[in-house]
Amino acid sequence: MKPENKAYHLLSDYKPSPYQIQHADLIIKIKEDWTEVCSSLKIQRRSDTPEGPLILDGVDLELLEIKINGTDPAPSAYEKTERYLRIVTSEESFTLSTVCKIVPRKNLSLEGIYQSKNTICSQCEAEGFRKITWFLDRPDNMSTFMVRLEASKRQYPVLLSNGHCIEKGDVDSEIHFATWNDPFPKPSYLFAVVAGQLDALEDTFKTKSGRSIRLSIYAQKQDISKCSHAMDSLKKSMKWDEEVFGLECDLDHYQIVAISDFNMGAMENKGLNIFNSSLVLANPDIAQDATYQDILAVIGHEYFHNWTGNRVTCRDWFQLCLKEGLTVFRDQEFSAEMYSRPVKRIEEIKLLRQHQWPEDDGPMSHPPRPDRYQEINNFYTSTVYNKGAEVVRLLKTLIGDEAFFKGMKIYFEKHDGQAVCQEDFVNAMAEASGQDLTQFMKWYTEAGTPVVTVSESWNEHQKLYQLTFTQETCSGAEPKKKKDPRVIPVTIGLLSQSGNPVNFRAQKSENPSGPEATIILSEEKETISFFGLSEKPVPSLFRNFSAPVRQKTFLSADNLAFLMAHDTDPVNVWDSGQNLYHQNLAEMTGSIRDGLSPQCSEQISMAFGSVLSNLEFDPAFKALALTLPSEGMLSIYEDVIDPVAIHQARESLCQFLAERHKKQLTDMYLELNQDKFSLDGNSMGRRSLKNTCLAYLARIPGESESLLSEQYDRSDNMTDRISALSLIHRFLSPEIAEASLEDFYQRWKHEEQAIDQWFSIRAGAPMKDPKASIDKITKHEAFNLDNPNRMRSVYSVFCYRNMSGFHQTDGSGYQLTADVILQLDKTNRQMSSHLCKAFNIWKKLKEPYRGQMENSLKYILNSGKLSPDLNEVVTKFLAP
Ligand code: BES
Ligand code: ZN
Repeated sequence: MKPENKAYHLLSDYKPSPYQIQHADLIIKIKEDWTEVCSSLKIQRRSDTPEGPLILDGVDLELLEIKINGTDPAPSAYEKTERYLRIVTSEESFTLSTVCKIVPRKNLSLEGIYQSKNTICSQCEAEGFRKITWFLDRPDNMSTFMVRLEASKRQYPVLLSNGHCIEKGDVDSEIHFATWNDPFPKPSYLFAVVAGQLDALEDTFKTKSGRSIRLSIYAQKQDISKCSHAMDSLKKSMKWDEEVFGLECDLDHYQIVAISDFNMGAMENKGLNIFNSSLVLANPDIAQDATYQDILAVIGHEYFHNWTGNRVTCRDWFQLCLKEGLTVFRDQEFSAEMYSRPVKRIEEIKLLRQHQWPEDDGPMSHPPRPDRYQEINNFYTSTVYNKGAEVVRLLKTLIGDEAFFKGMKIYFEKHDGQAVCQEDFVNAMAEASGQDLTQFMKWYTEAGTPVVTVSESWNEHQKLYQLTFTQETCSGAEPKKKKDPRVIPVTIGLLSQSGNPVNFRAQKSENPSGPEATIILSEEKETISFFGLSEKPVPSLFRNFSAPVRQKTFLSADNLAFLMAHDTDPVNVWDSGQNLYHQNLAEMTGSIRDGLSPQCSEQISMAFGSVLSNLEFDPAFKALALTLPSEGMLSIYEDVIDPVAIHQARESLCQFLAERHKKQLTDMYLELNQDKFSLDGNSMGRRSLKNTCLAYLARIPGESESLLSEQYDRSDNMTDRISALSLIHRFLSPEIAEASLEDFYQRWKHEEQAIDQWFSIRAGAPMKDPKASIDKITKHEAFNLDNPNRMRSVYSVFCYRNMSGFHQTDGSGYQLTADVILQLDKTNRQMSSHLCKAFNIWKKLKEPYRGQMENSLKYILNSGKLSPDLNEVVTKFLAP
């Protein structure tokens, strides 16, 4: 079969290319209406691979000229299709020169070279380079690049690419040029160019070996003052990677560019990271505290890719998790060190449960290392990223810190400069630890979240405590197929009946007697004995979320409340609370669904009260412990999801808790509200706690009007202002809400990021007639569907975070989403398929939602030609 006609890419089909491009010389001439790309590729037949034709990728390119070794090839020597350029030659090594035309201004896909405002920029991962010129656009082809950019001096005074600028000057009175040389061989997905009217914030970093690295962050002139947090984050990342992983920056100049129109968060192009401006720019007026934390994490993430991704890259896109899972793990550890470790860990767990679990349970479920895909863009998923990071953490727990860091060292020593596979990483860890990691590898190669059921027994006579663990794994795509058992580390602590940690010894654990042990499960059913106890203990299981599994626990509400009060593992204190809230909310949801009145539990009110008055918890942790599981989180535990009942149950419990604890919540709010604004972690935590209190108080009718309005009017930072505005919009009269929204818009309309948040507030609020509400929102002068941040601020918020608005019995929320998906699909396939993933849960929904969502999916499928990205998602969702 010809490559163009294949529906699926299979891991098992991997073949190296018969040719390698050793070097690419590019001249990119940016003209008024179009761009000319002159490419000269030094190509060599590979001696280690079977012979075959040279097939270069190329999409949306207009061929103007082609030469082989400087001469015109015979017409039979090449064939150009919509997606390929096939070269037939008997030469062992030759130069292929082409000239092609591309039109960045019309490129709304935001892949390849495109225009964002007045800046020309590129995005090549995963397969965008083929929209720039013909190439072996696959990560196992590593080439050196030399790039000459030519453009108008006036419109594009700054011309950037990877590596070092080795020459610049004038072509004529209007046009100038800059030539960049990147000495590191790299795959095409790491290529980047930028041309625009940009200013830079400059700094330097001194490496541990004493080299001085120039750091530049480019942005629009008016935004330069907002780049200092990003710069600070970059320097912290560099230092952290030296200290923790011993990895030094290999470049003399590290550049970051902030771009307004960007499909993703950021991109790790070698030496020239390109960022969504929302993850670079910050000042207290436009960025919430969470954004400051995200910027730190993403700057870190892209920087850490320089080793895990760029120096050692992926052989093919099936290995995406090799760079992404590992790099997310690294950025998580970095953030944990910079802020609070337990709080960071809790946020990771929430993200995994809320996004990755539904993915694993749904029709698109796949392993962190998938073995087939139609469109790679669809596999930048929570499974590859977040589960991938969990799997690295699990491995570290399994083999221990020392072996883990030794394994990292071996990995770099063996594979620096190579394009490798997930197995190469695991083999380095096996070598370092001396362990057989065959069973562990299943975490990468098999889909599904293991469900671990735990039961206990106590023999009073023998003073023997036993826990029995049963594991079972299925995945959403193959619900009936039971998978082999996994290796699962369970970190356990035992508490005495009076709430103190007790020392014990455990079977299947290497830990000596102590208050905590890690047990490694590897079989379908195992019973573990615990010795050295004098009374029946209360167990704290899967401490620090020691494995990404679903736990089915025997623990009663009393046990959970006990653990909330006494556990020494902060993650389990939080999780026991979430479990306890969830038990009550699940009952309440059931009652609402059955037409009965929901009962709020007194025990929960007591537990909530003791968290509120706990003096030891740090404020950020306390805010998390006081927050009920989100509606999305509550849905993942339901066999049949009734989104509206979940919404009502959660709202009732919020209101109940607010009324019961009104005085304490008010006092705490007032005390915290005295703080002076500051950006340190503790102040952020205190603001988070303050706004958590405010969110409860807002639910008591008639109580909080003045608090909300005052906070909105007086706040000197975006976190407080947005918290207040969002609550005003939801809970105060429509007149007050409208006036506040208008006030905000007028004040901040020149700040894109502020206005994105403003749109999110409107799209995230409960609505009865979503068609009318969303129409009104998107008719606003500031709405722009072509800008991904703006699109997401309305539609992703509506679909993913507004359950009671999105899910209507008449299906109108789904239908308006289907329409916008089809509209987006004409220009930006990454966005259409991203939005369509909101339909992932359709099979789990209660009727009539289920039928309505199915209708909307069929409507999309039957609407003519879809992009391959969207087609893959819809087809998988509708598969029987
Ligand atoms: N390599 C990715 C960016 C990317 C993803 C490009 C998909 C093209 C297609 C980058 O390193 C990344 O992972 N970015 C994340 C943020 C990160 C902190 C998880 C993103 O963009 O969301
Ligand atoms: Zn990444």
